[in-house]
Amino acid sequence: MQEMTTKIGNSVINLFDVKQAYRRWAPVYDITFGRLVEAGRRHTIEIMNRRKGTVLEVGVGTGLSLPRYAKHLRVTGIDISPDMLNKAKGRVARHNLENVEDLQEMDAGTLEFPDEEFDTVVAMYVLTVVPNPEQVMRELERVCAPGGQVILVNHFSQDEGVRGFIERLIAPLARIIGWRPVFPVERVLGNSGLRLTDTRSLRPLGLFTMLRFIKQPDFAADRKLMPETHAGRASFNPVRT
Ligand SMILES: C[S@@+](CC[C@H](N)C(=O)[O-])C[C@H]1O[C@@H](n2cnc3c(N)ncnc32)[C@H](O)[C@@H]1O
Repeated sequence: MQEMTTKIGNSVINLFDVKQAYRRWAPVYDITFGRLVEAGRRHTIEIMNRRKGTVLEVGVGTGLSLPRYAKHLRVTGIDISPDMLNKAKGRVARHNLENVEDLQEMDAGTLEFPDEEFDTVVAMYVLTVVPNPEQVMRELERVCAPGGQVILVNHFSQDEGVRGFIERLIAPLARIIGWRPVFPVERVLGNSGLRLTDTRSLRPLGLFTMLRFIKQPDFAADRKLMPETHAGRASFNPVRT
C-alpha cells in the first residue's frame, strides 16, 4: 500500500501512524471517544435513514453506527484499521445485521469501487485523521451517484478564541494522537462537484459539525467533458441542533 504523508504546520500524519493509533484505540474506542460522539452519529444516521438504496460508510471504525441503519439501506463499510474492522465484524455477527453487505480494509484515499456506485456516502469523524483530506473528498464524490449525497461529520478548527488557541497548542501532537487538531473547514469545501446543502452543529458543545452535500448531476456529466473547469463553492454557516 502506498504510504502517504502530509505536513500541516507541525502536524504530520501518515497511514502507518493512523493504523498504529487505532490499534491502541480499538479495545477502548466504544467506551471513550465512540461514546462521546454518539449524539452526532445518531442524528446523522436518522437523516440517512430517510434515504433509499446503498450506503458507503468510510472509516466505519468499530461499527457503532451499523445497528442504527434502517433495514431498507444496503450498507458497505471500509476502514484502514484491521483492529477497528474486526470489532465491526463482531458487531455485525452479534446483531445479525443482514443489511450490512460488506466490510473491507481499504484506504479512503484510494477507494476500490467503481464511479457512482453508492446513493449515500458518509464519513463520520474521519477527515481529520486521513493523510490527504482533499484526495478523500475527491474519492467520496467519485463513488457517489449523481444526485446522491455525501455526508461528513467532523471537527473543524477555529482561528480565534480559547478553542483555537488550544487546537494550535496541541497541533504538534497530531502524529501521536492520530488526528489533526487544526483542520479548517475550507479543506473540504470548494474542490469538487459537491454542493453544500446543510450544515449542523452537533453535540457535544458544538465541537463537531455535520455537512451534507449533493453531487450535482450536471457536474457529473460535464466533468467527463471538461475535467478542470468546475469547482463547487459553498457557504458555511452551521445550524445548531
Ligand atoms: C475517530 S474514528 C471514527 C469511527 C466511526 N466513523 C465512528 O463514528 O465512530 C476514525 C476511523 O477512521 C479510520 N481511518 C483513518 N484513516 C483512514 C483511511 N485513510 N482510510 C480509511 N479509514 C481510515 C480509522 O481507522 C478509524 O476507524
